[in-house]
Amino acid sequence: MQEKIIILDFGSQYTQLIARRVREINVYCEIHPYHSIPEMDESVKGVILSGSPYSVRDEKSPKPNLDQIKGKMPLLGVCFGAQYLAHNYGGEVKASNTREYGRANLGFIDKDNELMTGVPDDSQVWMSHGDTIVNLPDSYKIIASTADVNVAAYKIEGETTYAMQFHPEVYHSTDGATILHNFIVSICGCSQDWTPSSFVESTVDSLKKKLGDDKVVLGLSGGVDSTVAGVLLHKAIGDNLTCIFVDNGLLRKNEYDNVLDSYKHMGLNVIGVDAKKAFLDELAGVSDPETKRKIIGRVFIETFDAEASKINGVKWLGQGTIYPDVIESVSVNGPSATIKSHHNVGGLPDDMELKVVEPLNLLFKDEVRRVGKAMGISPSLLGRHPFPGPGLAIRILGDITQEKVDILQEVDHIFIQGLKDNDLYDEVWQAGVMLLPVNSVGVMGDERTYEKVVALRAVSSTDGMTADWVHLPYEFLAKVSNDIINKVKGVNRVVYDISSKPPATIEWE
Ligand code: XMP
Repeated sequence: MQEKIIILDFGSQYTQLIARRVREINVYCEIHPYHSIPEMDESVKGVILSGSPYSVRDEKSPKPNLDQIKGKMPLLGVCFGAQYLAHNYGGEVKASNTREYGRANLGFIDKDNELMTGVPDDSQVWMSHGDTIVNLPDSYKIIASTADVNVAAYKIEGETTYAMQFHPEVYHSTDGATILHNFIVSICGCSQDWTPSSFVESTVDSLKKKLGDDKVVLGLSGGVDSTVAGVLLHKAIGDNLTCIFVDNGLLRKNEYDNVLDSYKHMGLNVIGVDAKKAFLDELAGVSDPETKRKIIGRVFIETFDAEASKINGVKWLGQGTIYPDVIESVSVNGPSATIKSHHNVGGLPDDMELKVVEPLNLLFKDEVRRVGKAMGISPSLLGRHPFPGPGLAIRILGDITQEKVDILQEVDHIFIQGLKDNDLYDEVWQAGVMLLPVNSVGVMGDERTYEKVVALRAVSSTDGMTADWVHLPYEFLAKVSNDIINKVKGVNRVVYDISSKPPATIEWE
């Protein structure tokens, strides 16, 4: 039985970060919304209560029933969780009148307390709350304080219940990892057996049982998730897995051939489909970004279906869905309006009646990479920048023609290859080039030119939700700009995008 930690989510922006920290200790954990607490069977070694945008003093604030948990197993309250365990059991929480956001230091630490073992004097912690705990019930004992916050952390005597006002999961809490380690390993007694290779072993076993001799079809995109999903499924069922990789004509230069080649080297049974013409024909004359996306989504499904229906007796559709997508669809507030439906493959016709198998739906993105590495997938495939499904179509502003695709592929190739040659590729989370729908005047030799403008974009990010532009060296930008204008016919001006997200987005369309 896979032992686990349950994280009850009250809607904090940091909940996923808690889960990632727990996983980094090689312990499996699951996030559940506070209003649907799962059964606390023997596999559950402990529970963590997350933070929340709510105040415990709000009438509408979450009020979960913790009878099956508190006092019965290790429990850790973080921020809102700490306030809830105080407020609801006889303590007092008030709006605070001092600033309790940002850095603070633990001036007092109870060194004898098992949660605080190894945390040095004055350890820096990260606070983010508008309420403060002013009174604790009698059995509650303070185990850490800051200058402004007396109850920075406490323990309930006679129970393995602990709580802290600060966020141990954020990077700025310098000893947060030690505190979480103390809770999860020493107090919950977890055995730290959730490793990439144990994941591969147990997933391959369960895929074998689940799929038996059934056939599975999977769409590969060249991206990390679909590749790792493909290799896992292949390990489990071998050639009963058929992969389909579609060339929509909107990939990077040489991408289709290179990626298809590496898939074949990995032993995957993969069908490459050249559908360039179908995509470009349907996109002709279309400028609206959402319409472009819809057309690409539709033609992809049509192309994929046509190939998939050629496989006799296929029963399952494999998908590279990862854990954040799963959490999103069952989150505290229900699926959010911003869910990226366009990021998913879409559906197959009902008459195929395929069941869905998602071998990565328990993993965060960084874990997918580690699992990929454990299975020997090449670092160059695993370290690839994210690339949008609609590809260059949403980087060619305005309508799409083969000529524009050709120009953008060349420009993009010079930029990306330049990043690689200068050891900058891995410093950047995502990079690409936009082909703008404007011409500008230039001069080459004795002649005036009137040609295209391209915008280079390189961002740092962790998940694409927020991003900042990367301060690439001027010398590098100068060289790339020069190369592009000299080598790519039709482009006479290069600009660099220095907008962060928000308020801009990463893609221009
Ligand atoms: P934005 O432009 O919203 O992009 O800041 C965030 C991340 O999502 C990618 N992206 C897409 N991926 N289909 C995809 O598969 C799309 O339609 C799409 N639009 C944006 C973008 O490349 C970035 O990584």
